[in-house]
Amino acid sequence: MLVTCHLLTINIMHNFVFHNPTKILFGKGTIPAIGPETMSFGGKVLLVYGSGSIKRNGIYQQVTDSLCKSGAEIVEHQGVQSNPILSHVREGIELAKKQKCQVVCAIGGGSVIDEAKAICAGAVVDHDVWKFFTGKKSVTAPLPLTTVLTLAASGSEMNSGMVITNEETQQKFGFANKKLHPKTSVLDPQATCSVPADYTAYGAIDAIAHVLEFYFTTQDPDTPVQDRFMEGLVINAMESCDRVLADLNNYQGRADLMWTATLALNGLTAAGLGKVGFPMHLIEHSLSALYNTPHGAGLSAIIPAWMRHQSQRAPQRFARFAERVFAFRSGSPEELAGKGIAALEEWFRKINSPTSLQDLNIPKEEIPRIAENAVAQAKVWRMPDYDSERIQTILAGC
Ligand code: NZQ
Ligand code: ZN
Repeated sequence: MLVTCHLLTINIMHNFVFHNPTKILFGKGTIPAIGPETMSFGGKVLLVYGSGSIKRNGIYQQVTDSLCKSGAEIVEHQGVQSNPILSHVREGIELAKKQKCQVVCAIGGGSVIDEAKAICAGAVVDHDVWKFFTGKKSVTAPLPLTTVLTLAASGSEMNSGMVITNEETQQKFGFANKKLHPKTSVLDPQATCSVPADYTAYGAIDAIAHVLEFYFTTQDPDTPVQDRFMEGLVINAMESCDRVLADLNNYQGRADLMWTATLALNGLTAAGLGKVGFPMHLIEHSLSALYNTPHGAGLSAIIPAWMRHQSQRAPQRFARFAERVFAFRSGSPEELAGKGIAALEEWFRKINSPTSLQDLNIPKEEIPRIAENAVAQAKVWRMPDYDSERIQTILAGC
């Protein structure tokens, strides 16, 4: 007899495939493993890193010692800037091709890891790497990537996405391809102890935004497994960030924040939610493209306005967010939604992150220009309901 499961309940778990191939080595003293992990993919290594924090905090020494001890031949591509730019990606691709690198090793935060992913994809093709970002070309067989994460924020260490700014067109576009998952990522929380308070806060906000994008854009009214997982990640991001801001060397706080940020965008939260979107990121990427705004700072300026805009359309999930994350109990769904959004905005202020365009020194006269910039990405991301008018309405609320 065929047992028919009850599909009458309102929450439906969509079919999904969850496949995250990235191996994670987590914890104190894991960095020396990067040499053997990288060498298993090849001996000629392109070492990618930023503007120098790893030389100041000793991570560069730990990584190069481990790579040299394992017999690696290192080619350096340094100077990745925060909000990485296309011209520097192209230089890295040329270097990887000329030196016939077999594997890329990224040491840094999301900017360094994202640039490294783009180099992995571009180093094995003859067309320009930007064609991946405009959807004109798809990834073939990229170089393998290993990483040592030094900032808890983007989740790039365990996902297949990357975001690059084309400085000629002033477009900051992102794309993902499952072949671009790092093979191995080393997450030693001690590596993040040198991250200053502001970027610690921006990183926690980025992790929270990754959760909220899915939490508030899923079409399903009730997804209990994912909801409680996501609510827990938001609570952990806030609580661990508070602990770290009270003591930048608090290992447990750094460890909780690091793992929370990784889980916030490694595919697990979205599994079973069906179609979800990235509307807050759609708008923030334009702020970073046009004004080089730190990603998390741009998000804290946009999130409350986007939430107020969206909650008018469907207050229920925002009311549940207020109850589950901030323990508000009384009021109509609209009142509860408003309380939850205000509480999150208050927490952004408490950790000294901007909560308006004014805080970012972006004049409101710029709103039409920002909206036009975001519409270009909305087209590539197939988000037709985000036209210029709607984006301007949201930005007017920032
Ligand atoms: O240049 P370095 O030396 O690396 O200095 C960086 C940079 O100035 C510094 N820093 C990093 N680790 C440090 C440190 N300073 C002291 N001690 C350490 N241990 O911090 C600054 C910011 O670094 P960055 O890598 O830019 O920050 P984050 O990790 O937040 O990455 C931001 C980038 O990630 C992209 C964003 O668009 C942005 O370009 N994102 C990537 C995503 C993905 N791949 O899935 C999703 C995200 O939504 C995001 O869009
Ligand atoms: Zn983000």
